Amino acid sequence: MTTLYTNIKELIQVREANIKKVSGPAMGILPTIKNAFLLIKDDTIISYGKMSDSHIFNFDKKIDCSGKMILPAWCDSHTHIVYAGNREQEFIDRINGLSYEEIANKGGGILNSAKKLQETSEEELYEQSAKRLEEIMMLGTGALEIKSGYGLTVAAELKMLRVIKQLKQNYPLPIKATFLGAHALPKEYKKNPSGYVDLIINEMLPKIADEKLAEFIDVFCEKGYFSVNDTNHILSAGKKYGLHPKIHVNQFNSIGGVQIAIKHQALSVDHLEVMTQDDIDALKNSNTMPVALPSCSYFLSIPYTPARAIINAKLPLALASDFNPGSTPSGNMNFVVATACIKMKMTPEEAINAATINGAYAMNLADKVGSITIGKKANFIVTKPIPSYGFIPYNFGSTVIDTVYINGKKI
Ligand code: NIG
Ligand code: FE
Repeated sequence: MTTLYTNIKELIQVREANIKKVSGPAMGILPTIKNAFLLIKDDTIISYGKMSDSHIFNFDKKIDCSGKMILPAWCDSHTHIVYAGNREQEFIDRINGLSYEEIANKGGGILNSAKKLQETSEEELYEQSAKRLEEIMMLGTGALEIKSGYGLTVAAELKMLRVIKQLKQNYPLPIKATFLGAHALPKEYKKNPSGYVDLIINEMLPKIADEKLAEFIDVFCEKGYFSVNDTNHILSAGKKYGLHPKIHVNQFNSIGGVQIAIKHQALSVDHLEVMTQDDIDALKNSNTMPVALPSCSYFLSIPYTPARAIINAKLPLALASDFNPGSTPSGNMNFVVATACIKMKMTPEEAINAATINGAYAMNLADKVGSITIGKKANFIVTKPIPSYGFIPYNFGSTVIDTVYINGKKI
């Protein structure tokens, strides 16, 4: 079945297949075709170009897009959408003056979510998570990564990862799974942190590898969570099972997480709210993608990742949502893109590149999604009639989305 989308006001992010990511000044360039067509066969992009060249193609169905634009669906490379319940009480506690750190120290935070998740059945956890997945697909997300890390016991981490596996099987978009056993230290291990690292390495990892439940491995490398040394051990152990690192670093403190990530050839380093010049320099000459999570900064009122310093250093940057119950209870990538422009001074071109092609790179999906490219998945957004693509971030509180297509099918 072939579908021809015609009279597209502007077809955004058209790229040759060899482009896997964009860095530095190239992030400011967003290749587009005005008055364009797009041809889809089943779930794949098979052609695109100027409207005047569209007559040579046969098709089964035609969709007129007059006044509307088409861009690749968002690639959200960092989420924690599998969780149980919510943490609305902590939101209120923060309004009343407590910090994220103070709440965590009182036994709230990640441990609060872990308790809820341990008490929730796999079926119920699946239902709650699937609802969030459906919501973000409607908001234009066409590929995503999901982390474990609210289990913190062997059984509960496996439960989370099995839910991710079921979501992969039941939904059409590409989903990558990340094992984040090292998200927080369970209470029972407060006096024996190395015991928990051993549990991750000796009990969790072999079982996860056995059931092929994850592609990536993550560690929350931060003061009060996991040290650089722990991170080094866990990433080394993960490597033996073929798990590629994507790690939480520099959210509150710069403690050497970026450097250890690069030593392990991490696919991405995520958060980066607190960056030193050394951290930026370390990223040069690496293939590691820096990932910013502006909705987390917004929700917690913490600093934003210094996007300008990163891009001015000729580095790439990706944007992701961090959708989770504690620091970012939102998976709206339109808001992420707008907030990156408004608060991080990224241009619309940079922000759209960061949330599409660079996001795809940050989950090893750059050959499948992230741009309008022949052979890639037909995962894209059709906008409402808008004057220019700058309206996507400019119109920040409303949605410019008309329709979302995943694998060529309207969702
Ligand atoms: O990416 N920083 C670590 N993990 C999550 C938040 C976890 C939580 O508060 O539940 C994050 O922000
Ligand atoms: Fe996160």
